[in-house]
Amino acid sequence: MRMMLFSCRPYDIESFRRAQEDGLPAGFGDIELTFRETRLDETTAVLADGADVVCPFVNDVVNAAVIRRLSAGGTRFLALRSAGFNHVDVDAATEAGITVARVPAYSPYAVAEHAVGMILTLNRKLHRANNRTRESDFSLNGLLGFDLHEKTVGVVGTGTIGRVFARIMASFGMTVLAYDPFEHPDIVALGGRYVTLDALLAQSDVVSLHCPLLASTRHLINASSLAAMKPGAMLINTSRGGLVDSLAVVDALKSGQLGHLGLDVYEEEGALFFEDHSDELLLDDVLARLLSFHNVLITAHQAFFTREALAQIASTTMTNALAWRRGEPCNLVVADA
Ligand code: NAI
Repeated sequence: MRMMLFSCRPYDIESFRRAQEDGLPAGFGDIELTFRETRLDETTAVLADGADVVCPFVNDVVNAAVIRRLSAGGTRFLALRSAGFNHVDVDAATEAGITVARVPAYSPYAVAEHAVGMILTLNRKLHRANNRTRESDFSLNGLLGFDLHEKTVGVVGTGTIGRVFARIMASFGMTVLAYDPFEHPDIVALGGRYVTLDALLAQSDVVSLHCPLLASTRHLINASSLAAMKPGAMLINTSRGGLVDSLAVVDALKSGQLGHLGLDVYEEEGALFFEDHSDELLLDDVLARLLSFHNVLITAHQAFFTREALAQIASTTMTNALAWRRGEPCNLVVADA
């Protein structure tokens, strides 16, 4: 079975090679891996000709045109090496006879812990403090934070990651409010409470997004939801950029309605993230404006990026491909209803 991976970086190659060695008994050695650095899109889909399995990453373009081209080249299985699948036209894949699977859970700890890191950094202004001490500026003016203890955190989406995140925040002594169309007993067990999204926004000092990007959740955070938040609250998005209307967020930061913003994902990240653009001018005016606020912290979609997560992603991706070939159940993607 030939599997072609797009958007590969050295750490992807290393984790898949290592998983292949470790997974020899499971048959991983039967998979012929080809690593491509280029992104998958309309112009590069032709490179996958002859590959039974194509493995895209989160900012690859997997629209109907790409799927038709992959299908013409003989691809029958899309093994996403991500949990999110908003970048894939699943209906077009079904129509083309291509099965789509994902890695539903790798390390929820990786993403949840990154979200917590962003909260601590923004609250205690560690990013600014670090810059200051390196310049021999040991003053504290402007670095005042607040105790998380006895504050309220709002968790939007209590799936695998949201629940780990909620547990960590509860251990800080925070009150946990949650919003999810499907309530999970773990949240109640740790003392959390499900409320409406409006109530969560109105009562939370910190709001963290852990729901998927679907047509129904695009710009879940917009001008009116920002206005409904507690003045000066903190917003964290480690889920998908499209959940947040970036222009509305700029306005909320300028007015002070939003007190802190932590983004690991950005709605226009596709053209920028995972690449070094430091020698170029930053042409995205919204991102440039966001980066100019000292109460904004942006990381480039690295929340998943731990050794444990990479190992699990590689192993599950290859397990999915083998299961598909054997006609066994794998982690199929279900289209947005
Ligand atoms: P999951 O599928 O386990 O949980 C998602 C939860 O969101 C479910 O409980 C679902 O019922 C809920 N949900 C659906 N619509 C909602 C809505 N309108 N409002 C509130 N909740 C809603 O997914 P998991 O593994 O917890 O991942 C969450 C998201 O994190 C993924 O969809 C992905 O986009 C993102 N992610 C980001 C990573 C990063 O590196 N920054 C890495 C991995 C995932």
